[in-house]
Parts: sequence; structure tokens; C-alpha cells
Amino acid sequence: MTILVTGGAGFIGSNFVIDWLRQCDEPVVTLDALTYAGNLANLSELSGDARHRFVRGSIGDAPLVDRVLRQNTVRAVVNFAAESHVDRSISGPAPFFETNVMGTLSLLEAVRAYHGTLSGDARAEFRLLHVSTDEVYGTLAPDEAAFAESNPYRPNSPYAASKAASDHLVRAYHETYGLPVLVTNCSNNYGPFQFPEKLIPLVINNALAGKPLPIYGDGRQVRDWLHVADHCTAIRRVLEAASPGATYNIGGDNQMPNIEVVRMICALLDARHPRGDGKSYAGQITFVTDRPGHDRRYAIDARRIAAELGWRPAVRFAEGLAATVDWYLDNRSWVADVTSGAYRDWIARQYG
Ligand code: NAD
Ligand code: DAU
Repeated sequence: MTILVTGGAGFIGSNFVIDWLRQCDEPVVTLDALTYAGNLANLSELSGDARHRFVRGSIGDAPLVDRVLRQNTVRAVVNFAAESHVDRSISGPAPFFETNVMGTLSLLEAVRAYHGTLSGDARAEFRLLHVSTDEVYGTLAPDEAAFAESNPYRPNSPYAASKAASDHLVRAYHETYGLPVLVTNCSNNYGPFQFPEKLIPLVINNALAGKPLPIYGDGRQVRDWLHVADHCTAIRRVLEAASPGATYNIGGDNQMPNIEVVRMICALLDARHPRGDGKSYAGQITFVTDRPGHDRRYAIDARRIAAELGWRPAVRFAEGLAATVDWYLDNRSWVADVTSGAYRDWIARQYG
């Protein structure tokens, strides 16, 4: 049997594929469109590994997805493929709806047709796991209870609205067609291979380049940070043990204001890679205009996945962040490769 991982050349997808093949020998087919955020170098440790096959293509290409499913006797699909950056969704929402909504719809149709050809155990055991976000729940006040799976969807950015729409489609395919789907809604990830448009790698990259560290608004917005390795173990666990139709929130139980995260990164860099002038990287912190519609606080109530599936995060934030800073220091050529001309154009447009 084989699993199909869509979006497996991106940040979380590549961590998932590598982790999967470290844990077991079940083959993986990675399907990825290789947008600006997808990078084959993320999967370089698998080159020559017969258990892994890469197919370049879109989840929106139903004939291609259909072929990949049939030719590989796929027993599960894990869908990471998406446009994922909130700021990009604000400056240009259309690709988010093309990929996250219409792409997911097309993937669902291809998977539904394939599932219809299965019988017996293969049909009973087939799963489609759709990877989603806590942003579908909107924003929390400082003293409000963390997001539970029963919270209403109140997306505030075009990105969150597109992910919410995709979650609804996945749910509808379960209710209407009996497709055996699973949905996970996770909080902010960090770790190796994260594209340097997101807060943590952007700050590390800018610090080392002597550039400003842009903090939106007052920097007191709170995110619930989870190491990507913990997200991967949670997805594996949901895939192996959850009942069709189930949804699980996944989080780090680790709420931090952005400004504190950035100060921690500066302190880690001060110790590991001091500035030439002996001053702290914190001197590069610059408060800039806030993100429109910026959600103030996210926090995940992960009691369901803990109680039903026994999953809990294992990586402590201080250690995970230090390891992440070390990874970016050790992999400056990876950063140089992915920060191509297209990346520089984005940074120029976004930060002026
Ligand atoms: P990413 O932007 O790093 O990677 C997305 C990948 O999808 C890229 O490799 C890209 O090439 C690929 N892709 C884009 N459009 C495609 C298409 N039409 N067909 C096939 N591949 C396509 O994103 P990420 O941070 O790894 O996030 C992965 C998933 O997890 C997304 O669905 C995102 O919404 C979700 N998520 C992310 C976080 C986070 O903190 N990063 C948290 C919760 C959920
Ligand atoms: O919560 C899960 C979500 O986390 C995922 O669904 C998204 O795919 C992922 O991108 C992430 O969304 P955020 O918007 O929370 O992540 P980002 O790294 O863009 O920003 C984190 C926080 O830092 C947020 O409050 C905005 C702020 N920020 C971000 C950037 C890029 C800044 O203050 N300055 C910046 O330059």
C-alpha cells in the first residue's frame, strides 16, 4: 500500500514525508505543484530512496490525481496542498480560492471516484485526511476559552475563509457521499524548512542580514506555537486511529505574544552568532503598520485528541526554538536558494 501526500514539498508536508519514511517503510507519493513555497530541496534526503516518488502537479488536476491514485493503489491521502500565507491572501486573494477551495473540490471528486472503485478492506480502511488551521475559528479575546472543535467558524482573513470553505467541502463529502474523511485544525507551526515569509524564519533571516525585524501593530498578538515534528506525530496518530468524519484540534499549549517570540530569537542569535558590533539583534526590532483584520489571539483546546487518541505535544518551545535557530544558521544555503527573485519581489511589496 501507499500513501499520497499532496503539498509534500512545502514546510509541513516535507517534514511529514521525511518523518513518515523514518518511521516505516510504507511508500509515499508526493504530489506538489511546486509553487514559490514548494521546494524539492526539502526532500533531498529522499533522493534515490525507492520508497518515495515525486509527481509535479496540482490537486486541481483531477485526471492526474486519478492516475496517481490508481497506479499506486493509494490507501490514504494526506492533503497539505494550499496557499498558506495570510499576508499574501490579503494582497491577492484569488489564488487562495483557486487552490484551497477549487483545488480541494477537485481533489475530493477524484478521491470520491477512486474510493468508489475500492471494495472490501481497501474500501473500509481508506482515508482522506485534510490538514487545516485554527484560523477558521477567528479570533479570541484575552480571557476567552481556547478554540474547541465545537466552536463556530468565523474566519477573518481571505486565507482563513478559503480554508474554512475547504473544511466545509470535506465535511460535506463525508455527510453526502460517505467519503471517509478526517480534518485536523492546527495552530502555528515552526521548525526546519519553513519558508522565510512566516514570522519565525523571517525574523531569523532578517536579523542575520542586518535588516529590520518587522513587528505588526503592538506585537501583543498571541499565537499557540507547535513544533512541526509534533504536528506530524499528531497527523500520523489521527490517520491510524480516528473514525471517519472526525475532526481534531492540534496545538502546542504554548501561547506567546509575537514580541516575546521575536525577543527570544534575538537572544538565541546573540548567544550563537553575535553581531559584529557586539549589540543585540533586538536593536533591529521595528514596529510597522498592523496587518488588516489581524486576529488578536489564537489558542487551541487539544483535549479531544489527548483523550481519544493519546496525543500530546512533546517539544518544549524554548528547546524547539533554539533547535530551529540552529537549523537556519546551519542551512543558510537552503535559505539563499528559496529566497529567489520572486521572494525578493514579495518582501519589497510587503515591507516597502
Ligand atoms: P506551505 O506554503 O509551506 O506549503 C504548501 C505546499 O503546497 C507547497 O509545497 C506548494 O507548492 C504546494 N501547493 C500549493 N498549491 C498546490 C496545488 N494546487 N497542488 C499541489 N500542491 C500545491 O504551507 P505549510 O505551512 O506547509 O502548510 C501546509 C498545510 O497546513 C496548509 O494546508 C496550511 O493551511 C496548513 N496549516 C499550516 C500551519 C502553519 O503554521 N504553517 C498551521 C496549521 C495548518
Ligand atoms: O494559526 C495557524 C496559521 O499560522 C496557519 O494556518 C498559516 O498557514 C500560517 O501562516 C500561520 O499564520 P499566521 O498569520 O499566524 O503566521 P505568520 O507567521 O504570518 O504570523 C505570525 C504572527 O506574527 C502574526 O500575528 C502576524 C505577526 N507577524 C508576521 C509577519 C510575517 C509580524 O508581526 N510581522 C511579520 O513580518
